[in-house]
Amino acid sequence: MSGSDLRNEVRESFTALYGHAPESLWSGPGRANLIGEHTDYNEGFVLPFALPQRTVAAVGPAPAGEWTVCSTFESECVSFGATEPGEVTGWAAYVAGIVWALRDAGFDVPGARIALDSEVPVGSGLSSSAALESSVLTALIDLGGLDLPLERRPALAQRAENVYVGAPTGILDQSASIRCQAGRALFLDCRSYEIKQIPFDLAAEGLAILVINSNAPHQHVDGEYGARRKSCEDAARLLGVPALRDVPLDGLAAALEKLDDDVMRRRVRHIVTEDQRVLDTVALLEAGRVREIGPLLTASHASMRDDFEITVPQIDVAVSAALEAGAYGARMTGGGFGGCVLALIDVDRAEAVTAAVADAYGKPGFAAPTCWIAVASAGATRL
Ligand code: GLA
Repeated sequence: MSGSDLRNEVRESFTALYGHAPESLWSGPGRANLIGEHTDYNEGFVLPFALPQRTVAAVGPAPAGEWTVCSTFESECVSFGATEPGEVTGWAAYVAGIVWALRDAGFDVPGARIALDSEVPVGSGLSSSAALESSVLTALIDLGGLDLPLERRPALAQRAENVYVGAPTGILDQSASIRCQAGRALFLDCRSYEIKQIPFDLAAEGLAILVINSNAPHQHVDGEYGARRKSCEDAARLLGVPALRDVPLDGLAAALEKLDDDVMRRRVRHIVTEDQRVLDTVALLEAGRVREIGPLLTASHASMRDDFEITVPQIDVAVSAALEAGAYGARMTGGGFGGCVLALIDVDRAEAVTAAVADAYGKPGFAAPTCWIAVASAGATRL
């Protein structure tokens, strides 16, 4: 569906549901992380970009203290008043969580009627949840004229997800969906929240990022994510640093010697080397040496596969097939255990790489992958 079709549909569905036109439309994008995986909650570095696929929210006013949200994905609308974490569950918890986090931060949140639709694939590691959060957050801020600067918004959306929904995620997804710009990748320091917009116009170089959705069922995601996070935090404690970000690359060997547990050592090695790969990727992009980031992407994948152990066979096969078909580099993006691979390719190789991955999936009998080219897009906005 084109973006304008989606907008028309959401506008029409709002009008059909509530009997009047919405005040306006807002949208928030899904995200891909170019590099820097699981570094966010270790207070390190990430480099995401926003996807063209967006969640669109048509929003209009409601009486004070009343919120209703309907989605084309769900048969039932959900209405709620002022709630505490956990009271609204399921998909609507992301919306109730945003309302809660805003109110908890002292804002007078306007009542609202909301109709939602989305092009962001759910369960593919492209952060459909952040797209939902950022579209609703931006709408409520605009509707209520709330004074919440852009740089403070990701932490508030993260709080909705951590405290209200109960998912222990870092700040990567919300930052990407809120702060990314078209044609740029977002270099974020997850400790200071400082950002730098990095030029990422691949088409100008004859290049593209091919997204390969493995369509592998997401399994054990929550428990495994929490286990990785705990292992990193335990390691930081044992090493006597505030976060693994504070272990420098040239201090890695010494740090690893202090840890007895082999699994924990590998988790630490992934985080410390991954932070450095983000910095190296940023330096190459800023120098216009875009093709040269390929080996860093591939090294990141190997680290996620062997040290952080968050990949699955479908993902590893997609990376290998893309590389064999001529990609400069390829890696899984997102939290892991399924989801998508990003491959840096010459734009005219898109069909060949897509065919190679499909072919590689046929042999072990994996469900067919879905591939498309992702262009770095804008963050959440009023439409
Ligand atoms: C998920 C989380 C993020 C981040 C990534 C891994 O997307 O929501 O906070 O930790 O995994 O990089």
